[in-house]
Amino acid sequence: MADKITAPLIRARKGGAKLKMVTAYDTPTARIADRAGADIILVGDSVANVVLGHEDTLAVSVDVMIHHTAAVARARPASLIVGDMPWLSYHSTPKETVANAGRFIREGGASAVKLEGGRKRLPMVDAVLDAEIPVMGHLGLTPQSLHTMGGYRVQGKEAQAAYELISDAKALADAGVFSIVLEGVPDVVAEIVTNEIAVPTIGIGAGAHCDGQVLVFHDVTGLGAGKYVPKFVRSYANLADDAVAAVEAFFADVESGAFPADAETYHMSKESAEILQNLSTSASDILADEAMGRRSDR
Ligand code: KIV
Repeated sequence: MADKITAPLIRARKGGAKLKMVTAYDTPTARIADRAGADIILVGDSVANVVLGHEDTLAVSVDVMIHHTAAVARARPASLIVGDMPWLSYHSTPKETVANAGRFIREGGASAVKLEGGRKRLPMVDAVLDAEIPVMGHLGLTPQSLHTMGGYRVQGKEAQAAYELISDAKALADAGVFSIVLEGVPDVVAEIVTNEIAVPTIGIGAGAHCDGQVLVFHDVTGLGAGKYVPKFVRSYANLADDAVAAVEAFFADVESGAFPADAETYHMSKESAEILQNLSTSASDILADEAMGRRSDR
């Protein structure tokens, strides 16, 4: 088994080999991400809209996030597991924030947490770091700020907004976060941030200059059947169509009687069949046929 990837190891990758991060929300997807060589598995609050059918990420609670984080942790990946703190779990007091972050570690099995926002969230970031929990920042198009942003809009397009974003990134890096996700920002802004801070940037819709890239598992694999796919997504498979074809083939075999075959069926031993034949008159015809036609399991 590969050595466990830690937050300090990710931090040390600044400017080195590109960091590979993908979301996962359950044990099978975490196993796939790990086998594919993910450095980081993010149990994103995108579980809300990607898996649970909600309109946005605001719907999920700490309990829901921990349920999914623990499922990912049960895959025992070598990848670093980062739990995404949901909306309102780090917005009131540092004390409450630490309690919530601690649950991701103790109950969820994560080794770090991610939270959205810059200088505004510094007291919470400091408190979580003080509790010895590694923190990943998240700036730019922060989906939990959907309503204040007025929709999912690219951030930092104007000079002043870009300057504020760069200042937020510096403040987070100075506070001690081990990496920062940059989402939905012009590539030049991501490049400036990447050059100016000492911790890795991980981009999503932020161009090619970041220290790493992240995408949502269901977008990469084409499992997000029918949902809106943003411009920055590249799908490498169409598993939703493959899955429909597989289930259709199963149903066709059910209809035709081709499923299940003998090899997919359990049989009774000859001895038990004989005893049952004597006990049950209704069983005798069936078992007689069975004895004529099929080998009994021993
Ligand atoms: O929740 C999520 O999936 C995320 C990533 C897309 C960065 O925050």
